[in-house]
Amino acid sequence: MCGIIGYVGTENAVQKLVTGLEALEYRGYDSAGVAFFENEQLKTVKCRGRIEALRNLLGCELNNAEIYCGIGHTRWATHGEPSDRNSHPHGTENVSIVHNGIIENYVEIKKFLQEKGYIFESETDTETAAKLIDFFYKDNPVDAIREAQKMLRGSFAICAVFKNENNKLFAFRKDNPIIVAPTDAGNFVVSEISAVIKYTKRFRRLEKGEIAVITNDNITILDPDNEPTEISYETVDWDAEAAEKGGFPHFMLKEIYEEPDVVKRTVSENLSNYIPDLSSSGLSDEMLRKAGRIHIVACGTAMHAGLVGKIAIEKLGRVPVSVVLASEFRYQNPILDENDIVIVISQSGETADTLAALRLAKERGIFTLGIVNVMGSAIAREADGVLYTLAGPEIAVASTKAYVVQLAVLYVLALKIGLVREKLSEKDVQAYTRELLEAVPEGISRILKRKEEIREVAKKYKDNKSIFFIGRGMDYAICCEAALKMKEISYIHCESYAAGELKHGTISLVTDGVPVFAFATDHDIIEKTLSNIKETAARGARILIFCGENNPVPENAAEDIIELPQLSELFMPTVTATAAQLLAYYTSVELELDVDKPRNLAKSVTVE
Ligand code: F6R
Repeated sequence: MCGIIGYVGTENAVQKLVTGLEALEYRGYDSAGVAFFENEQLKTVKCRGRIEALRNLLGCELNNAEIYCGIGHTRWATHGEPSDRNSHPHGTENVSIVHNGIIENYVEIKKFLQEKGYIFESETDTETAAKLIDFFYKDNPVDAIREAQKMLRGSFAICAVFKNENNKLFAFRKDNPIIVAPTDAGNFVVSEISAVIKYTKRFRRLEKGEIAVITNDNITILDPDNEPTEISYETVDWDAEAAEKGGFPHFMLKEIYEEPDVVKRTVSENLSNYIPDLSSSGLSDEMLRKAGRIHIVACGTAMHAGLVGKIAIEKLGRVPVSVVLASEFRYQNPILDENDIVIVISQSGETADTLAALRLAKERGIFTLGIVNVMGSAIAREADGVLYTLAGPEIAVASTKAYVVQLAVLYVLALKIGLVREKLSEKDVQAYTRELLEAVPEGISRILKRKEEIREVAKKYKDNKSIFFIGRGMDYAICCEAALKMKEISYIHCESYAAGELKHGTISLVTDGVPVFAFATDHDIIEKTLSNIKETAARGARILIFCGENNPVPENAAEDIIELPQLSELFMPTVTATAAQLLAYYTSVELELDVDKPRNLAKSVTVE
């Protein structure tokens, strides 16, 4: 949610900033801007629209070898519409800042500053933070930041430059992520390492209360008492290629294609002799044995993975599981017993609501487990235990490979619980884990080979205004995700319904020609789902059915049938997800939409 970057070094800073912003663009793309030192003056260039628009606006600055330092921003609008005026950087003639987050008390601060004579040009909360720093600035930037921090409420990560501190960056944060990353040709401040991975894999995450002061050849991190801290760097094991498209037309397709590998990698990482080994996660057998209830808390796609996880854990481990949206969990005074376990699932590890839910559970003394993709993210650091989804960087805004790997981790966890609670024998568990390691990746690969068939189906339905996704059990859990994927990147209105529920109201919307995409992979309830499909067909619906190849549906049951590689019913959501992701992907491609950066969205939702 907003990407920020700062660079100070020996090479042209503007080019470095803009290139970095291009890599961060998926965090928000309402507007973009840079501020940099040119002839000891601070110059700002910013505009509404994408980084490309900013690049076009910049001229010789992109090659001026005399510009060594600057800050940049790509915006996901919160306060104030996307416009040139509301674009970052914001500031005064003394100071310029880029900001990710929300200043909650900005109205109050703005009033305070207006009374002191400040005039505001934008509707943003960020401008108040910049002017507040300016207000406290006499001759020492660190003192000014400290004073401003005392007044700022909300969440923020900020990188600042001061006119009188030529070629120097200042960075600080509260709740939102920001890192410093050293390279051979200078130093970066950036929202996340993936944006500068072609220069360095080493980074140090700033902690709350710290201020980083950065020059071309030095990084100083001051603790809350203004004492320099010893810096030890973390290293990511991603490479630059993993963060680039690698020949695919879109990140989304590339990421879907990575699913077989990342599932295999993540599952094998958590097995020992085909038995789940979660010892590194901090979860003990004792905890799993004693757990009275498991609460899965997450947002969006990650929550949908939780829906599948619930069914798997309840089926294999016989422990009750509730799945709650993080934004709801926080405010419903959840009933948590001391032996319960709270599992938060998050690709980014930075989602504000999920993080807040995690903190709430911790405050109540409940063991928290994070299922997280980004190492070193806030959730990874704050959870009592972590299971990593080793999906690598996910750049497309619509989550795909991270979801499938979240399923894989939840399956491993469910098997572990089944074993520990003596609901499954070692032999049963080994049979399942073999399937997860081999048949599941193989099944996903087989679906990928059928992408052209799925593309043809996408072409047939792409011009519809509305699509209903129905299923029962696991198939309902997967249709929630299939509908979300389709709507977020195709802008077609999609609704997911438990197949048996349609007739309790929603079927009134099913009229001649309305598409119904039905998921019917569960052999035990396929008959029931087929009845529900017929009910919609009788009202003129056009039917597409996803089913397992060993459990086919009658040919005349649908206009289109996608037969999926057959796995145990428990694991069918993996291959179904891949097929549904490809369907959504090609629908968006055929509609000529911006697949990787759908409107109004951002990858990492760090606001509540
Ligand atoms: C949809 C999507 C979102 C995220 C949600 C949570 O494709 O990606 O629904 O799943 O914003 O994000 P994380 O997993 O980073 O907590």
